[in-house]
Amino acid sequence: MKFFVDTADTEEIATLNDLGMVDGVTTNPSLILKSGRDITEVTREIAGMVAGPVSAEVVATEAPAMIAEGRKLAGIADNIAVKVPLTWDGLKACKALTDEGMMVNVTLCFSANQALLAAKAGATFISPFIGRLDDINLDGMELIADIRRIYDTYGFATQILAASIRTVNHVTEAARIGADVMTAPPAVIHKMAEHPLTDKGLATFLADWEKTGQRIV
Ligand code: G3P
Repeated sequence: MKFFVDTADTEEIATLNDLGMVDGVTTNPSLILKSGRDITEVTREIAGMVAGPVSAEVVATEAPAMIAEGRKLAGIADNIAVKVPLTWDGLKACKALTDEGMMVNVTLCFSANQALLAAKAGATFISPFIGRLDDINLDGMELIADIRRIYDTYGFATQILAASIRTVNHVTEAARIGADVMTAPPAVIHKMAEHPLTDKGLATFLADWEKTGQRIV
């Protein structure tokens, strides 16, 4: 499973990247706002830090303007994936941009039918939003499983990018189902290392070691 980091915070990306945890980065207008940075400048910096795809999202809502913005964003670096929303215009932009050889991440996906359309339009990635479905009492993981089944049945090459991940359990479940990629906020990735039995076991080992009076030299 590939790990993308869902942030435009370059310090957070650098910390995880040093550990080999970053296969790519996803951003969106809300994350750009949170960073307080200029979209072109921060996207260029991130793209220079990581080898894998860096998603940068268009903000136009009509296909011709989306395509123009997509070309601009893709011009920032070779590893940019243009992110477009799953609207009919977004699908048109997806088709046009992928035909031009760009990577496209179709975002804000909330149904299997939407995912099917994105694959038909040649999307490189489809981003189903797990957390936001859970927020309204629907099952985000069921959507990931449905898309996996559909894509595998018909051999679509579009990669399932599990997004809007809020918990470590979301990561486990998405991995179990076979999502190709997950994108999570840095805090969730850090939390994946935590386990109370690890802390407890380490405390015991250290206490026993203290009693031996030894040192590793
Ligand atoms: O990957 C999409 C993500 O940024 C949305 O997450 O938590 O705002 O639903 P969230």
